[in-house]
Amino acid sequence: MDYSNLRVNAKRLRSSLEEMAKIGGTPGGGVQRLTLTDEDKQARDLFVRWLMEIDCEITVDEMGNIFGRRPGRNNALAPVMSGSHIDSQPKGGRFDGILGVMGALEVMRTLHDNGIQTERPMVIVDWTNEEGSRFSPAMVGSGVWAGALKLDWAYDRRDVNDKRLGDELVRIGYKGGAPCKFFPVHCYYEFHIEQGPVLERERKKSSVHQGIVSLLWGDVYITGEGNHAGTTPMDARHDALNAAAEMILRINRLPSRVGGNMLATIGEIQNHPNSRNIIPDLVHFTVDFRAWEGDIALHAWDLLCEECQGIADRYGCPARFEKTWHVDRSPFDEKLVQRVLDVATEFGYLNMLWVSGAGHDASYTNQVCPTAMIFVPSIGGRSHVEVENTRWEDCEAGCNVLLHCLLRGANELEQKK
Ligand code: GLV
Ligand code: MN
Ligand code: MN
Repeated sequence: MDYSNLRVNAKRLRSSLEEMAKIGGTPGGGVQRLTLTDEDKQARDLFVRWLMEIDCEITVDEMGNIFGRRPGRNNALAPVMSGSHIDSQPKGGRFDGILGVMGALEVMRTLHDNGIQTERPMVIVDWTNEEGSRFSPAMVGSGVWAGALKLDWAYDRRDVNDKRLGDELVRIGYKGGAPCKFFPVHCYYEFHIEQGPVLERERKKSSVHQGIVSLLWGDVYITGEGNHAGTTPMDARHDALNAAAEMILRINRLPSRVGGNMLATIGEIQNHPNSRNIIPDLVHFTVDFRAWEGDIALHAWDLLCEECQGIADRYGCPARFEKTWHVDRSPFDEKLVQRVLDVATEFGYLNMLWVSGAGHDASYTNQVCPTAMIFVPSIGGRSHVEVENTRWEDCEAGCNVLLHCLLRGANELEQKK
């Protein structure tokens, strides 16, 4: 069959994204749909309803990952899979994650409308807790599925209010019965916004990433000595927040020292008891390092531990440095990357090869099945913020690339190794 004229329904894609953006919609035009909250549940319910409308077989696994399966002509063959995440950052954007879920849904709806049967089954997935904002670390649903993270460890992740991830899954009714375990997948494509400024700056319509950088997350805990702000002389203090401030500035200078385009972010801090007239006695802050060259982030972490220990000693504030999460860089499957390039070129889209600095579930799927991603530009390069935006025509373009990549994969009979 020649499907070269087949296109997704751009109006329907837009209206699905707009409908989803109402769930957890913020006054500033973004969304707040933190993982396993009531908003996440509401969006999941809507997603499941839409999957049922196109006769997908739905499975929810014990990590709450939702899979919708569309049978193929030969259901013994490994499926093609596509998806992303429904959860968002606090005051996050309307496209991060949800574009990849609604994009894959639009592909399936298009096949459904046109009565197209593929050789292989096609699976759409919503991965639990991609963002890692409420429960650290990120990409936990896909990490357990790929066998890189342990289920019980994942269940035991806690939010700032000490709520357990496992309990919250039960509370919202998405702790499913199916084992969270990798099953053979012929190829996995994830469709996402770029979340950075490069495509717009280079005037490209889409990009094909060669892979995802390595990610390292750490936590620093500093213990000070609480005391009265009005009676404790400056030279008699062990101020945990002062020690943290010096460490944070030092950590932000690490990227220019280690090179390799490493990025460092301290995005979360808790100060105790957080009272204006008490010297802080405990500070916790998070560390996020990213680099394409795998060893750089690890090397930077070693430097951090050594140098921040020196700062802690100087302040007389004992410190603890915990490396909590590390994912190696993920070079994508070359054949799948080439297919994305070919399809985008056939559509006449200017595209480019690039590397993703943002983390995606595709990092973990890449460990167990051939994986590639399709990216579309972010207006002004802004993401993880309410003003995150992407042109509707770019969403349509990327979704058409996804459609044809999935169709080609789904009609490919030979099994990839
Ligand atoms: C996830 O969105 C990340 O890149 O941190
Ligand atoms: Mn995302
Ligand atoms: Mn994100």
